[in-house]
Amino acid sequence: MESLKKKISSVQEDFIKKITESSTIQEVEKVRVEFVGRSGKVSEFFSQLKKLSQDEKRVIAPLLNSLKETIELESKKAKEFLIVKREESARLKKKNFDVSAYKTGLLKGHVHPYSQIVERIENIFLSMGYDILDGPFVENDFYNFTSLNIPQDHPARDMYDTFWLNKKNLLLRTHTSTMQVKTMEQQKPPIAAVVPGYTFRHEAVDASHDTMFMQCEGFLIDKNVTLSHLFATAQEFLKALFEKSDLDIRVRPGFFPFVEPGVEIDMRCPFCEKGCSVCKKTTWIEIFPGGLIHPNVIKAGGLDPEEYSGFAFGFGLTRLAMIKYEIDDIRLLLGGKFKFLEQF
Ligand code: PHE
Repeated sequence: MESLKKKISSVQEDFIKKITESSTIQEVEKVRVEFVGRSGKVSEFFSQLKKLSQDEKRVIAPLLNSLKETIELESKKAKEFLIVKREESARLKKKNFDVSAYKTGLLKGHVHPYSQIVERIENIFLSMGYDILDGPFVENDFYNFTSLNIPQDHPARDMYDTFWLNKKNLLLRTHTSTMQVKTMEQQKPPIAAVVPGYTFRHEAVDASHDTMFMQCEGFLIDKNVTLSHLFATAQEFLKALFEKSDLDIRVRPGFFPFVEPGVEIDMRCPFCEKGCSVCKKTTWIEIFPGGLIHPNVIKAGGLDPEEYSGFAFGFGLTRLAMIKYEIDDIRLLLGGKFKFLEQF
């Protein structure tokens, strides 16, 4: 009799263990049937009752009944618990469900080639100790022309097809050289700065001309600045930008009223040895103009040209971006077409 009691309690323990391990309603039901189903473990005990004496029955039968009740009750509770849990997790899932996460054909962001090249250029010049400056697009005649040794009626004004504004003397800057005198007014030498930014010209738009494009001005003003400083700076910059340690440059005379002497800097084509379509089979690419800042410009900036000298250069950032990223139509750059932008 004692051994029977033990068996009953070990069946109960076994049941509790199995029911707590069940994680689905189906599993709970399976456990329930295993114990109290028609041929379950508890039902077997019941069928053995008749073999027992009357006294034994009186003790064992209530035990079995209560075991059966416990099993039914615990199974029911376990099922109810699992139902609540299932509903709760469904509710949570719904709450965290992001409909847009599964949108097809989602557009990814791309860094515009202008932003990429501006960042590159800024990093190169920062590493050489230059400041990065910004200037207004709307300028007056003084900073765009007169201060740069291009007085009223000077023929050099014809080089720039200018967008004049309705207000007298105001225009959209035709180049970033506007920042030369402005900076001299605001800072004391030594000054070393680059100014990447948009410039505007009244052009007939085609594959290589747009009314809005980017330039980058650079200047260094101090005592005893010479052309060699300009050439070395230009070469180091181009080497870094095109990632070519042996990039040659050559220099030709050039004319701009605000530099004296003025030069045109060419670089060896970084894409070929013997001539290609980028360098038009010449192996040289005309890259940017520059020169020593004209004494009249230094004066306009409030400095003494006997004491200070400087160099300036100004490159077509748009042209450089087109060369670097092999873009053959300028209109693509500000056209805002995804097909174009997705390539960067
Ligand atoms: N500002 C000139 C241009 O836009 C370029 C330039 C800058 C030339 C600095 C010499 C020195 O055409």
